[in-house]
Amino acid sequence: MPCTDGAKQASRDFSSVRADKAKMQQRLLIHHVAVSSLANRKRLFNSKTTEFRGEIIMEWGMKNRLSRLIQKDGKALFLPVDHGYFQGPTHGLEKPEETIKPIYQYADAIMLTRGVLRNCIDPAIEKPIILRVSGAVSMVGEDLSNESIVTSIQEILRLNAMAVSMSVFVGTKNENKSLSNLAKLVDECEDYGVPVMAVTSVGRELEKREPRYLALVARISAEIGARVVKTYYCENFRKVVDGCPVPVVIAGGPKTETQKEVFDFVYDGMQAGAIGVNLGRNIWQTENPVASIRAIRGIIHENYTAQEALDLYNQVIAGKA
Ligand code: R5P
Repeated sequence: MPCTDGAKQASRDFSSVRADKAKMQQRLLIHHVAVSSLANRKRLFNSKTTEFRGEIIMEWGMKNRLSRLIQKDGKALFLPVDHGYFQGPTHGLEKPEETIKPIYQYADAIMLTRGVLRNCIDPAIEKPIILRVSGAVSMVGEDLSNESIVTSIQEILRLNAMAVSMSVFVGTKNENKSLSNLAKLVDECEDYGVPVMAVTSVGRELEKREPRYLALVARISAEIGARVVKTYYCENFRKVVDGCPVPVVIAGGPKTETQKEVFDFVYDGMQAGAIGVNLGRNIWQTENPVASIRAIRGIIHENYTAQEALDLYNQVIAGKA
């Protein structure tokens, strides 16, 4: 059979693929041996002081980031201004820098995308950043659940994010894609000690505020490796918190009719075991965002009741606090 130049080239290509594969297998073997020997060392010296040093350093990074987000009292107030990633210049967020300027000092962290971070936020800001890294959908597109990861791990580190967040959609046709995206993101971020927050949702066909569905998506997200879960408040919220082995924060959803409604559900959620909120529109779309965030902060960090929060809200508006 004649051996053409094309066939020779194909054979050379094939050999080089095989050589690459062999090199890769060798590297994996070395890695496996190294990891096993570290695991054995850890088993042999079953004491905190003899743990592998690299492991302590990696744990330290994760703990350090989480402790900048979740305060010493174990509570947290995250301020999300990421809505433009699928809603465009939505009401109240047309100029994100102007929206956050009067209120961010009352938040423990700000959640946004890299585009808003780079263009609208002073790099000298001291507040920790939670970087939203999923998207590539829009509110006029076919399916909001069809998200991809849109930010690389290099960018996450370059922007000094304290955590990342991504949406998880259970009960939709993109359930598997979204949960697989979460798994990949967790794998990448855990390598560098960056916590992942799952922003959980359920499909439209499921009752959005039903505890069994919210508990389902919260638990699945934690099982896949999310370090924090964001969910919506619902009746019997304790069921969601109790079934989720990682800290839970509550989102606000669309603006409510009255401020008291927000203070009520934040208070109830905290009583049920949430560690705080990731709450946007019910702060920055309200008539007085400073009064709103200060009152919510009162519930989270000062143990205020909903009524005490409302009193503070009114005092701030009246210029008395
Ligand atoms: C949705 O656009 C984002 O994930 C928000 O960060 C999340 O829904 C919380 O914001 P809000 O309290 O406005 O619902």
